Amino acid sequence: MQHEREAHVFIFPLPVQGPVNCMLKLAEILSINQIKVTFLNTDYIHQRLITHTDAPIRFRNYPDFCFRTVPDGLPEENPRTSTEIGNLLESMDASAAPIFREMLLTAETPVTCLIADGVFAFATDVAAEIGVPLLYFDTVSPCGFWTLLCLPKLIQAGEVPFKDGNLDEMITNVPGMEGIIRRRDLPSFCRTNDINDRRIRLILREAEHIPLAQGLIFNTFNNLEAPILAQIRTICPNIYAIGPLHAHLKSREARPATSNSIWEEDRSCISWLDKQPSKSVVYVSIGSLAVMTKDQMCEIWHGLVNSGVRFLWVRRPGSVPGCSDETEILSPDQDVTRGTEERGCIVRWAPQEEVLAHPAVGGFLTHSGWNSTLESMVEGKPMICRPYFLDQHVNSRYVEAVWKVGLDMKDSCDRAVVEKMVREVMESRKDEFLEVAEEVAESARAAVSPGGSSFADMDLLIEEIKTMKIAIK
Ligand code: UDX
Repeated sequence: MQHEREAHVFIFPLPVQGPVNCMLKLAEILSINQIKVTFLNTDYIHQRLITHTDAPIRFRNYPDFCFRTVPDGLPEENPRTSTEIGNLLESMDASAAPIFREMLLTAETPVTCLIADGVFAFATDVAAEIGVPLLYFDTVSPCGFWTLLCLPKLIQAGEVPFKDGNLDEMITNVPGMEGIIRRRDLPSFCRTNDINDRRIRLILREAEHIPLAQGLIFNTFNNLEAPILAQIRTICPNIYAIGPLHAHLKSREARPATSNSIWEEDRSCISWLDKQPSKSVVYVSIGSLAVMTKDQMCEIWHGLVNSGVRFLWVRRPGSVPGCSDETEILSPDQDVTRGTEERGCIVRWAPQEEVLAHPAVGGFLTHSGWNSTLESMVEGKPMICRPYFLDQHVNSRYVEAVWKVGLDMKDSCDRAVVEKMVREVMESRKDEFLEVAEEVAESARAAVSPGGSSFADMDLLIEEIKTMKIAIK
């Protein structure tokens, strides 16, 4: 009698906070549904998860789940901020890819499905070698991802590199985004004059590999991005839109948020929020990779204090290069110090999902990372967007111009602009933004509830993984 093969999914995220967080949520949903999962972390990320979260303990509840680790190839003391992403990817190609291949070839329970970050081009060859379907999971926004997929077309049409310095020129070669995005809304590396730029080469390689996958997983929901998903289907028809994943896990498990933070969460900010009036606080964070200069930090600081609005500000260690302690006050003027003492709270890292869900929070000054954007949407919190890189420039444009749940502050970091936008979102246009944000939140929550589009796509993904129905091209 022939043995039935056991479904075994091997998951390999980009070793960065947002993607790891996102893929762990997916891994947990698969595990709850009795699918065997092997989750591959870099040593750096895994060590931080062990130190700062209960994730490794939590996952022991799933007997068929296991973590494996690979080196990322960078020295321990090397920063893993945005400026190092190129080095990290190159070093992963050299050091992690061969180990990853070996693990798959020698897995005790044969792997039946591979889920990897879209940037890992090497995954296509390995999946083909072991004869299993590959699903790329790009944890960036589909709208941002679509601009990346269109990069070859943009270059061919002569829209990238830009012909002149006019960043307000509309982009015409991203189907579905006509009349929406300008040059300034494309991922920031498109501003280069050098077509051989390392980031451009990486994206072109990714755009070549994506259509080779058997399917694509996205952390989004149909109501939010249906037109974009339709465009992406022209490249890869098999799409699972299963987001917002953090809310999806909560909906299936009926339990509060769990932490996958790779920094220690400072919970004192929750007690501080408990003492603030309803919707009075603007939450400020630039995510896990973005950095800023001391001057930019100072401008934001003055803008926040001058707005007169209460604020909770995450200053992640390492986010201001050259500054040893970001929570320390940097030669402030006295008004700023006083304003901060009266109305501000500064921490190194916060339990963000909980912060955004807190009734005292009324808005989010964000770098527009995709997880942050979705977390804000689910809680109905309007955004002020100051994108830093990658999909964030597209996300912030969509927040303002398409979804209408906030303002886009890109390319400006002036205290007067910060003050004006914070006042607009938190005071003068507060009701208007809150109303739309609540509609989006309801739609997001419906998507991940039984009967919703993301719930159905997740059921389909689970079913197809279990029955091994995903066809290999
Ligand atoms: C990266 C890219 O920067 C982003 O453009 C892309 O969309 C995803 O990968 P990152 O900087 O990690 O994202 O931002 P984001 O996607 O927003 O994820 C940050 C995560 O860290 C969120 O899940 C957020 O809840 C968490 N976080 C952030 C905390 O838990 N505490 C904090 O204080 C700040």
